[in-house]
Amino acid sequence: MHEAQHEAIARWERRWMAVMGALLAVLVVFIVYSLAVEGAHIGQRAQRGTPQDLTRLEMFQSPGVMETAPGQFRVSVVGQAFSFAPAVIQLPAGAEVTFFASARDVLHGYHVAGTNMNIELIPGEVATWKYTFREPGEYRVSCNEYCGVSHQNMVGTIQVLPAAEYAALREQQEAAAAGVGDEAGVASVALGEQVYASNCVACHQATGQGLPGVFPPLSGHAANLYAADGGRDYLLNVLLYGVMGSIQVNGATYGGVMPGWAQLSDEQIAAVLNYVLASWDNAGRVEELPYAAADVAEKRETALTPDQVLALRGQLDLE
Ligand code: CUA
Repeated sequence: MHEAQHEAIARWERRWMAVMGALLAVLVVFIVYSLAVEGAHIGQRAQRGTPQDLTRLEMFQSPGVMETAPGQFRVSVVGQAFSFAPAVIQLPAGAEVTFFASARDVLHGYHVAGTNMNIELIPGEVATWKYTFREPGEYRVSCNEYCGVSHQNMVGTIQVLPAAEYAALREQQEAAAAGVGDEAGVASVALGEQVYASNCVACHQATGQGLPGVFPPLSGHAANLYAADGGRDYLLNVLLYGVMGSIQVNGATYGGVMPGWAQLSDEQIAAVLNYVLASWDNAGRVEELPYAAADVAEKRETALTPDQVLALRGQLDLE
């Protein structure tokens, strides 16, 4: 090769390397800037293990908000296709919040709009990070890792209340929870409403109408299921073990996945069923508060797979 040609190529190579070097420098500046100025921090890995073991940890058995010390809160969150448990989190403004989060099935994201929180939820890992919400308001949470057909519906809310308002609300909720298991041992609708708002509303909606093609309606349909022969047990099994596969409701086909909610307590499951059966078009069609915690405990003894639950559904004679 001629010396001149060689020199020309080498010149272009040096220019190219300079451009790459400059690009790298710019990226490093961005990273340093976001760490130092914006206060970005990276979720730390708190624990590793199989997803099954991790979601069996006490804090993920009943995920949610816990006050660990005055002004300090712990939030535990589990991501699963296609919801966060809990979907709605209430916190006081100004409190130091430590989050712990993991995923039950596949990779999910935990992105809180208007903050620098954007955490990857990895099955088999517990991520932890700290955050303080200074401003009261509603913060939208969304999953930002594609996780399946209904990824776009995987959303949640963090409601940040002024501290005094939060304390009052907390008192009310504790009073409602204390109403659980009154004389007859039935689970309260007030508790059920909370459970629904935290876990079910993202898919089945506040109206109980669900979403076409993915999440079946509960309004009217839950009462139909309850009325069918075997329907009372079927509803318990759906809540505990989930159901997977294509189903028909009122002539429409639904292909979403209902995850099992065995991590909720017996009271919570009984309460949310009672709430659903007392709401919307189900109201008045079912005796008052049909489920008690003991009914749920009994169903836990026979573990089913979501496919088996689907098969049970096929045996119901739904009109
Ligand atoms: Cu979970 Cu996308």
